[in-house]
Amino acid sequence: MSAPFVSFEGIEGAGKTTLSRWLSERLQQEGVPVWLTYEPWEPRLRALLLERGDLQREEELLLFLADRAIHTRHIRRALEEGKAVLCDRYADSTLVYQGYARGLDLEWVRQLNQFATGGLQPVRTYLLDLPVEVGLLRQRERDRIGAEDFAFHEKVRQGFLAEAQREPHRYLLLDATQPLEQLEQSVWEDFSQLLREHT
Ligand code: TYD
Repeated sequence: MSAPFVSFEGIEGAGKTTLSRWLSERLQQEGVPVWLTYEPWEPRLRALLLERGDLQREEELLLFLADRAIHTRHIRRALEEGKAVLCDRYADSTLVYQGYARGLDLEWVRQLNQFATGGLQPVRTYLLDLPVEVGLLRQRERDRIGAEDFAFHEKVRQGFLAEAQREPHRYLLLDATQPLEQLEQSVWEDFSQLLREHT
């Protein structure tokens, strides 16, 4: 069985990047091969998505999906090489940002995600949940999507919570206002169990 593939999700400022980096370093210390990655991934698509002001929501959706299709090929390869893959945002971000928050049809977005990933899904999604006002205060630099208003980010938060309820076996809901050490401990306990199951 291949190594686990997990994702980190949440609103801006939730701590996805900090926590996924911490887990990656901890795994390296333990001698576990790991690939820490993120989306949007391909540098030119990332720049287009995060900087270009005139993108329509359909165009944004298709660019995120194109990026994911390319990225997923690399994720599959890393998994085949026996690496655990930690991804800072994955398909759930598209469902929630382009679906719940931008208002594109959810079932349609689910199908397109399925097409872009060829059905690859994380075995665990760590959802870092916190009030929007706290997240936005923590985040100093905002890209084009991060700069959307409070109501948009509230839809994102509620979208993630709805998805966590919909798929309770895959999602692990974490209160991101907890001290970092507690979050690290919860993620470590869960991830080491996944590692045991995958070896
Ligand atoms: P990211 O680099 O994770 O930014 P942050 O650290 O601010 O969370 O993601 C960049 C932005 O892209 C973020 O605002 C969320 C958005 N996004 C989508 O709208 N759809 C997607 O599918 C992905 C992967 C990201």
